[in-house]
Amino acid sequence: MQKLVVFSGAGMSAESGINTFRDSDGLWEQHRVEDVATPEAWARDPELVQRFYNQRRKNILNAQPNLAHHLIAQLQEQYDVHVITQNIDDLHERAGSTQVVHLHGNIRLAKSSGPNAQYTQEFYPINGTELDFKQDQCPAGYPLRPHVVWFGEAVPAYEKASALAQQADIFVVIGTSLAVYPVAGLVHEIPAKCKAYYIDPKADYLRVPKQYQLIADTAVNGMKALVKQLLD
Ligand SMILES: NC(=O)c1ccc[n+]([C@@H]2O[C@H](COP(=O)([O-])OP(=O)(O)OC[C@H]3O[C@@H](n4cnc5c(N)ncnc54)[C@H](O)[C@@H]3O)[C@@H](O)[C@H]2O)c1
Repeated sequence: MQKLVVFSGAGMSAESGINTFRDSDGLWEQHRVEDVATPEAWARDPELVQRFYNQRRKNILNAQPNLAHHLIAQLQEQYDVHVITQNIDDLHERAGSTQVVHLHGNIRLAKSSGPNAQYTQEFYPINGTELDFKQDQCPAGYPLRPHVVWFGEAVPAYEKASALAQQADIFVVIGTSLAVYPVAGLVHEIPAKCKAYYIDPKADYLRVPKQYQLIADTAVNGMKALVKQLLD
């Protein structure tokens, strides 16, 4: 079976009603990113950070996978499909994708906020939508924080994602501005013979090399067009 690797960003979930980050004028759900998505923000005001992610978790739980998530899951019948996502939502999994790498974490899970939080491999499922800064603690007594990679933190899953990109026969980039490093570098790691596509309304060759075929459309329309091409 050929290996088809999908690399998705926030635009993947836009048609599920989850806001992207850079399309909203640098404001992320009415907050400046520095106020909610950095280790400094957590040090300054952990309750604000916790409230922000509780609200996002609620939005994500209320959202449904869109047709593009479903079409990717259906491709598992013909291909060895791996999804590498920058998204912290679980919409790929809920659509039925079984091999998903979360580069920036998974909002349904919590981890310790202790000294080595960015590298920990111990995660705790969150029941419902709320994490409570004062009550929810790891066994060592540190408050639990969302399993989210904040700006300025390490990306421990990058190595696994990089290995997948290097083995891809088909590589599909969807709904990402490719502005967040190091993960945006993945688009350069694919083999020369790999067939590559970039689906995004703003797709252009400033963001990806000429090896990529541009599909300048939304995730849903773009995936429909791609499936048609792959099956023809
Ligand atoms: N759903 C989520 O979990 C979520 C939401 C917002 C931001 N984030 C995180 O913030 C960081 C931002 O980087 P990013 O590149 O993923 O997002 P980004 O906000 O920087 O870029 C979004 C991209 O999506 C495209 N887009 C907008 N509507 C689209 C649609 N309907 N279909 C397809 N593409 C569409 C835009 O043109 C843009 O290129 C990432 O770490 C991301 O995971 C995650």
